[in-house]
Amino acid sequence: MSTFWHDPKKKITAYLLYCVSTAVIGSLQFGYNTGVINAPEQKLKRFFQNVSVERYGEPFSTGTNTMLWSLSVAIFSVGGMIGSFSVGAMVNKFGRRKSMLINNVLALIGGGLMGLSSLSWSFEMVIIGRLIIGVFCGLCTGLTPMYVGEITPTAIRGAFGTLHQLGVVIGILVAQIFGLESLLGSDTLWPLLLALTILPAVLQTIMLPFCPESPRYLLIVLNQEEEARKALVRLRGCEDVNDDIQEMREEGMKMAMEKKVTIPELFRSPKYRQPIIIAIVLQLSQQLSGINAVFYYSTGIFNNAGVTQPIYATIGAGVVNTVFTVVSLFLVERAGRRTLHLIGLAGMAICALVMTISLSLGKANPSLSYLAIVAVFGFVASFEMGPGPIPWFIVAELFSQGPRPAAMAISGFSNWAANFLVGISFLKLVELCGSYVFIIFTVLLIFFFIFTFLRVPETKGRTFDDIAQGFTTSAGKPTSPLPEAVVVGLPDSKEPVPLSPT
Ligand code: GLC
Repeated sequence: MSTFWHDPKKKITAYLLYCVSTAVIGSLQFGYNTGVINAPEQKLKRFFQNVSVERYGEPFSTGTNTMLWSLSVAIFSVGGMIGSFSVGAMVNKFGRRKSMLINNVLALIGGGLMGLSSLSWSFEMVIIGRLIIGVFCGLCTGLTPMYVGEITPTAIRGAFGTLHQLGVVIGILVAQIFGLESLLGSDTLWPLLLALTILPAVLQTIMLPFCPESPRYLLIVLNQEEEARKALVRLRGCEDVNDDIQEMREEGMKMAMEKKVTIPELFRSPKYRQPIIIAIVLQLSQQLSGINAVFYYSTGIFNNAGVTQPIYATIGAGVVNTVFTVVSLFLVERAGRRTLHLIGLAGMAICALVMTISLSLGKANPSLSYLAIVAVFGFVASFEMGPGPIPWFIVAELFSQGPRPAAMAISGFSNWAANFLVGISFLKLVELCGSYVFIIFTVLLIFFFIFTFLRVPETKGRTFDDIAQGFTTSAGKPTSPLPEAVVVGLPDSKEPVPLSPT
């Protein structure tokens, strides 16, 4: 078994990479289905109209068609809310690996419905398919990070954790490229574009049986030490896995000792109220920044700004998105979460303003359409500096073992709910505010900037205990940003460990 790092605590075996890659197919799926709806907008709207003519003898009114289109986009997030909320119950009942396997059935059904919608003359199949795919992706956003976190050695868990967001952004990019008219984004091939999600689901189903069940689940939940040991020996590529076993036993004991915290208790107890509010607001800052207005509707936005080849600008946004996720991966342990989040929010607010200027003047002055492209690219780049990756993992850092599952469910749900809100209301807002629509996001971004500045502590370089302590001592009083220490705590780690893989 090949070893990439010689430090035994940071050892990456080929088998571990195989298992992580298998799981990250779930992140790709979430990204693909987020990005896929953007390019074929006009084709789908035309299809809805054709169905109406076929059934009722006349096309839908523009309002109805816009509503049906927004619904097809946004119902994905309703499914996401359901899925993200169900992760906890599912993994405890079926385990991590089997849950991923079962989840792929949803991809087959959802992809199948969308793929056959055109043949069946049914726009309802597109909408129901998007809902099912949403549930599937909501589950993916919980299952993938959990499985990856649980099979990876503690010392490199942070670096591997960021692979989830990287998978998401690559998925978005792939969807944008396949959405090209010359590939699958044409009037005849769009059903295939939407159904393509079936392929990675089949691939993951074939790969999963060769991955082990999470050793943490085997030991802590099922109490099967021998099975856990066998899985660890394969993942770590060495016979001596006593340290891992010991660490898991301790985690299990800690879990047994710490009271399980319910969702209402998170809000009632002064100890948890502050961190849960911070966790929710950070998730809201990610979605209400307007990022998915770009990822769902950028082709239309560029069109309005007078860009002649909007799809290429959309793909450009996907490339910028991917590049800056990698940049953030290297910066997050140097600059700190709070700083990067603030820089990202400020950058987004400025770019949203520039976007407004170019959108309102772009049609009259074609050279301003380039400004729209620069503004959208800057918006996306700023997003991936902080608001993209940070809210997903900072929640785990703000809570200890007991309240963490409830906190993850609530924050995941808030994220998807806000995602839904933007998806369903953006086109209506465009109707109401025209080219000034991004002013709304500018105002929200300024609010989130002020909140982060006043309330969010820096978690970089601090252990979980230290972070939790910070909230306990300041319960009832407003938290001011706390000083940095020299070590980093990882989710579930009992010891502070350096996060950087270098
Ligand atoms: C984050 C968001 C997701 C968004 C993506 C864009 O993962 O959760 O909604 O589409 O970033 O890169």
